[in-house]
Amino acid sequence: MTPADLTTAVVESFGGCPDPRLRDLIQALARALHGFVSEVGLTHDEWEQAIGVLTDTGHITDERRQEFVLWSDALGLSMLVDALEHRLPEGATESTVLGPFYVPGSPPREYGASIAEEMAGVPAWVYGRVLDLDGRSIAAAELDVWQNGDDRLYAVQRPEAPEDHLRGRFRTREDGSYAFLAVRPVPYPIPDDGPVGKMLQATGRHPWRPAHIHMIIRAPGFQTLATHIFDRASAYLDSDAVFAVKPSLVRDFVQRSADDPERPAGAAGEWVSLESDIVLAPSR
Ligand code: BEZ
Ligand code: FE
Repeated sequence: MTPADLTTAVVESFGGCPDPRLRDLIQALARALHGFVSEVGLTHDEWEQAIGVLTDTGHITDERRQEFVLWSDALGLSMLVDALEHRLPEGATESTVLGPFYVPGSPPREYGASIAEEMAGVPAWVYGRVLDLDGRSIAAAELDVWQNGDDRLYAVQRPEAPEDHLRGRFRTREDGSYAFLAVRPVPYPIPDDGPVGKMLQATGRHPWRPAHIHMIIRAPGFQTLATHIFDRASAYLDSDAVFAVKPSLVRDFVQRSADDPERPAGAAGEWVSLESDIVLAPSR
């Protein structure tokens, strides 16, 4: 049996699959895997190493750590699936990767409230409006936000941190406006103490992500949007470890002085402001 005959036999073995989508998926997977192994001339040693990497990935994964998704992120697969699924209409705010640090159930907070439960960096006043494709305001849209502090960490990475630190859910006002007091985010490395980190090290890649604030925006009648706001002044915008930067999501954080009359309550000393409107696409 030649290698090509073997591939054909495996693909044909799934010919009777009763679910046509599953049949397409598994036949294409078999073709792609066989094509990959043939193209690189995979040795038995390399095959064994690959099994070891998958085994280690399973062992390090639990309800707090998802190393399989991290592989997907670091190989650009998460962004590829996002690009294929979210073909948004012109003018809609673009989506990007969710990441492993989202924890559902953030506390509801009032317009303008702080998401920092303890000191976490330079105060950042984040504001804007949530709009539809025609520029009409969307009232009562929910913004679910989370971010890291100046120690690079998300609260879920610090067992001693208050559970609701650096996260919160806000509702837009009648005119679609939202505002909250965040902190200026900083670049940080994706978890690199497991198999994905080993891969990055072995291939000469770095684990860093550029500074960003995460948001999920939900409103009835509109597609739910998971996105980021990136800081234009951040390092790593052109080499994000998970390929999630889209130029339309990069914004300017404006430096503001301590005596600026617009200084929000709760911000002491120097602060920054960030305006970012969000445009939602209608539900499909
Ligand atoms: C994040 O932005 O939180 C993230 C995304 C993908 C992998 C790791 C972290
Ligand atoms: Fe993040």
